[in-house]
Amino acid sequence: MTGEPLSVYDAIRMRRDVRAEFTGERVSEEQLTRILQAGHCAPSVGNTQPWDFVVVQKPETLDTFAEHVAGCRRNFADSLPPERRATFDPIKIEGIQESGTGVVVTYDAGRGGANVLGRHTVEDTGVFSAVLAIQNIWLAAVAEGIGVGWVSFYEEDYLTELVGIPSPVRPIAWLCVGPVSEFQETPDLVRFGWRDGRPLSEAVHRESF
Ligand SMILES: Cc1cc2nc3c(=O)[nH]c(=O)nc-3n(C[C@H](O)[C@H](O)[C@H](O)COP(=O)(O)O)c2cc1C
Repeated sequence: MTGEPLSVYDAIRMRRDVRAEFTGERVSEEQLTRILQAGHCAPSVGNTQPWDFVVVQKPETLDTFAEHVAGCRRNFADSLPPERRATFDPIKIEGIQESGTGVVVTYDAGRGGANVLGRHTVEDTGVFSAVLAIQNIWLAAVAEGIGVGWVSFYEEDYLTELVGIPSPVRPIAWLCVGPVSEFQETPDLVRFGWRDGRPLSEAVHRESF
């Protein structure tokens, strides 16, 4: 890393879902390890650490996955009414090949055995934990000047097979990870008129919802 480290608030503010700004260079091994280490520091229900990270850099695999994602994108586009389709068409939804690195984050519900402390009432707390690892990765990447884009336009079974994930482990995200030319100030879905954000005041409720 060069220069002053970002504050956590700066990283949160600057973080973007990156699709179009990957430079085509590859993230260095040192940076990738620091970023994944940040993911591995996430809190987890019952301290189960239910995530694994599959690093994918073979161009053939990136191409194969990109082709699958393009098919899923077409299916979604075809499902849209004409006006929404026109808005959606120019929106890029992945930078799988340009990023040069995919990190498949998986969730293992079996990690921690039969009695996971804290998951007996809310099963989803397991997946929540793996998602926290993703957020740590996303923010640590920003601190490194590295972009992350979350791709969810895939069939779970397809990705499971593609990177050899053993049952009952599930893939929960494909993250495109790579150096970027810039972080956009405004999220792409806002810039392209798909959906605006809402103010904090609408999200905060006092005493009851
Ligand atoms: C669970 C999840 C799945 C997402 N899947 C995709 C995706 O498949 N393609 C994409 O371009 N962005 C995807 N995103 C990114 C969102 O579109 C993005 O976070 C949102 O528009 C806000 O933009 P920002 O992250 O730049 O603030 C996903 C984000 C999350 C949290």
